[in-house]
Amino acid sequence: MAVACVSRMSRRGFLAAGAGLGVAATSVAAGVRGGMLLTPGQPGRLLPSAAPPPPAFRTPLPIPAVLAPLRSDAEADYYEIVQCETDLAILPGLRTPAWTYGGSFPGPTIRARAGRKSVVRHRNELPHPVVVHLHGGHTPADSDGYPMDVILPRGATAVPSAHHGGHGAPPIAHAVSHGERDYHYPNNQRAATLWYHDHRHGFTGPAVWRGLAGFHLITDDEEAALPLPTGERDIPLLIADRSFAEDGSFAYPQADPALRVAGVTDAYMNGVLGDVVLVNGAPWPRLEVDPLRYRFRLLNGSNARRYRLALDPPPPGGGGLAQIGSDGGLLERPVTHDTVDLSPGERVDLVVDFARYRPGTRVRLRNEFGAGRTAEVMRFDLTGPAGRDDTAVPERLTRIAALDPSTAVAVRTFHFQLREHGWAINGRLYAPGEPLARPKLGTVEIWRFLTDFHHPVHVHLDPFQVIGRNNRAPGRFDAGWKDTVDLRPAEAVEVAVRFTDYPGPFMLHCHNLEHEDMAMMADFVTE
Ligand code: C2O
Ligand code: CU
Repeated sequence: MAVACVSRMSRRGFLAAGAGLGVAATSVAAGVRGGMLLTPGQPGRLLPSAAPPPPAFRTPLPIPAVLAPLRSDAEADYYEIVQCETDLAILPGLRTPAWTYGGSFPGPTIRARAGRKSVVRHRNELPHPVVVHLHGGHTPADSDGYPMDVILPRGATAVPSAHHGGHGAPPIAHAVSHGERDYHYPNNQRAATLWYHDHRHGFTGPAVWRGLAGFHLITDDEEAALPLPTGERDIPLLIADRSFAEDGSFAYPQADPALRVAGVTDAYMNGVLGDVVLVNGAPWPRLEVDPLRYRFRLLNGSNARRYRLALDPPPPGGGGLAQIGSDGGLLERPVTHDTVDLSPGERVDLVVDFARYRPGTRVRLRNEFGAGRTAEVMRFDLTGPAGRDDTAVPERLTRIAALDPSTAVAVRTFHFQLREHGWAINGRLYAPGEPLARPKLGTVEIWRFLTDFHHPVHVHLDPFQVIGRNNRAPGRFDAGWKDTVDLRPAEAVEVAVRFTDYPGPFMLHCHNLEHEDMAMMADFVTE
């Protein structure tokens, strides 16, 4: 699956890059004016592919390569990732030019140990500015991927000008890098499935759609001591829908195809839904499995699509999906499900015991929120016969200290709503440098999220605990430490959050990437 990372700068040239600098969501509004449609029950609109969809369950599931450090010392491992355009082979007989981390989609997986730093040097050989965010990372502000802290393309000299994200936002100082930047990740946090992806203000949707996403997995002693499946039976699965033009390239309804102006065309304001479901970059792949337990780290890396995942057939007796973790790592105890809901940005860690099936069974992973081809995700083909399985799903996985809401020093409300000029939080379009909150480090706060539409709400820096949903108990998928929580239209979710360290500006935003690019983001500053 490794494809040579050939820079295509010369072919595309710098024109788009230069023109794109410094222009961001100034005209977010264009797409919203004239009244857009809210489609009940749908987080977006389907973009039909012009290329014929490939057959399902032919391509073997690719597993992203684990990145080797360039060097290591007593405290840290040092990596380098070159961001470059690469032709991927996704559809039969066609090439898909992609923006990649190191030549593959997903990018290489970084495997880190809690408490041991990763320093990742990103080199930008793409024709556009980029920003890298480690989603779920407990990361100091200067390495968190603030949306204005771009890495300019190698060789580009223009510096983004003062940018107006909202209305007349004053210019603030941005840490612009030229050609490359080192991101420092302390990894000082629990074992968890994190991912890294682009986060440039106004252009995250098209950048991730074109391939800028990868896994960053943290393990720790507590997790390593559990008898969970490991090695080849611990598999990250990035699920993402995409659409393709006739020539095999990714199709995306950017209002300005030259990427000078942020946002999609009016019809796709609610979100862009693809009609080809990729898992680790392959369309509807298949994986041969032994009749043993497997751990699957599921990530919804889609721009807008929500999934309701189910095994078909279910194992005898049901409850085939044993959830052991969520965004922020292990749950206290496993929870068994027949279906698992996953909104963009969320992760869920599942153990599936294929010994519950007869050898030779073909088990499809279905998406009950999909229709037609998007109702399929991938297939597991059981080989046999059953071998000895020395793994287990223990009844007790970890301890989670509950944040006590009665100790909260502040209650803040964030309304995620469509406004005349874009997707807004508390009536405001994203304005870099104008924080909506200034939480004190070390204190507990209650944050209430209210929505008009489907919005997967994501908070940077520290995970939170869901304490209530619609004035009731948390929902089936709200357990454990979360950093992204799915809200459906007219829902209200209350979370308890405590930012433990690292002062500075961080973000709170909708993880529907079209909403995010069209201004549904806010700064908060920890102090
Ligand atoms: Cu996954 Cu602020 O993003
Ligand atoms: Cu949203």
